[in-house]
Amino acid sequence: MIYLIAGARPNFMKVAPLIKELKLQDIDYKLIHTGQHYDYNMSKIFFKDLGMPEPDIHLDVGSHSHAVQTAKIMIEFEKIILQEKPSAIIVVGDVNSTIACALVAKKLFIPIIHVEAGLRSFDQRMPEEINRILTDGLSDLLFTTEKTAEINLKKEGIDSKKIFFVGNVMIDSLIENIEKTKNLQYYKKFDLKESDYALMTIHRASNVDNKEMLEKIIDIFVHIQKKIKLFFPMHPRTKKNLEKFNLIDQLKKENIIFSEPLGYLEFLDLMNHSRFILTDSGGIQEEASFLKIPVLTLRENTERPITIEQGTNTLVGNDFDKINFLVDDILTNQYKKGKNIEKWDGDASKRIVKIIKEKIFNKS
Ligand code: UD1
Repeated sequence: MIYLIAGARPNFMKVAPLIKELKLQDIDYKLIHTGQHYDYNMSKIFFKDLGMPEPDIHLDVGSHSHAVQTAKIMIEFEKIILQEKPSAIIVVGDVNSTIACALVAKKLFIPIIHVEAGLRSFDQRMPEEINRILTDGLSDLLFTTEKTAEINLKKEGIDSKKIFFVGNVMIDSLIENIEKTKNLQYYKKFDLKESDYALMTIHRASNVDNKEMLEKIIDIFVHIQKKIKLFFPMHPRTKKNLEKFNLIDQLKKENIIFSEPLGYLEFLDLMNHSRFILTDSGGIQEEASFLKIPVLTLRENTERPITIEQGTNTLVGNDFDKINFLVDDILTNQYKKGKNIEKWDGDASKRIVKIIKEKIFNKS
């Protein structure tokens, strides 16, 4: 028996292809939902869109400060894992649920499998960077999405025998689901035309929790909407802060369309038909690169350098002039095109489960 952990929005599209492959390769699993995200459109809609089974166990932890959230997940997860010691746990990505469950399992001598290991922004002001370093330090099998990840892990003293470059499970989900969106054409539901709008998402604490920073970003959006229509699905953290800082009215422009957070298929379709994307997300840098849609990342660093070197990503921070220049490049078709990325081919979960079978269950 393997426990598969998911808790927050970016986890669901990573565990869906793993579930499918565990079933195909006859490995018993239980899906544990920590409840870090709980709103319908931050959690349940992904289960529906991705055709995932209901979680076997729900920890119902909810939103709290970092310490309280992490601690509550640990307390609830320990109760579960003590009842039925699984052969291993699989954790994905870098959210608080990832490190919380890894820490509990390690102290009970249960092997940890980390999917999306070795990514580093080298910026410890990001809570995710702390989660990544600690989870990797505890893990027994580390599956990576790009080659720099292995270099990072080796520098931290991790035994190379534990590291496997397998590709990207999030791209497995994208490949599996993109066909479904083709008939649905969600972008038309919002009165948008193909390649005639830009998609924007921001939610990272460093961008939205600070009033001055958020004001700067709003200025950028207000400027860009003079050039192209902007579609803005709003993360709950961002919405809360725009209201708290009284900034929402500044964004109310004819060329800016707001929506609630979207489901997986809707968002995929909106990405795929957009002219470009402005974001501070980690995963969207990868998805856009795969789709060959230009993506300007509103951050100073990225833990996913392959998206810059080979994909369609450029880091722009909050540099108004750079963004302006690159948007013009995109709109005049002069922006870089991006290449195919090694092993982002839809088979990462297959490779992962095969290795799990050998290493955890001694089966070939
Ligand atoms: C978390 C992850 C981040 C990931 C993001 C994707 C950590 C440290 N951060 O950040 O890496 O990119 O998820 O969304 O794990 N809220 C709701 N409904 C929900 C969930 C949250 O309204 O279903 C609101 C709450 O007010 C909460 C806030 O959003 O306080 C932030 O949620 P939280 O899970 O703490 O962090 P995210 O910003 O979502």
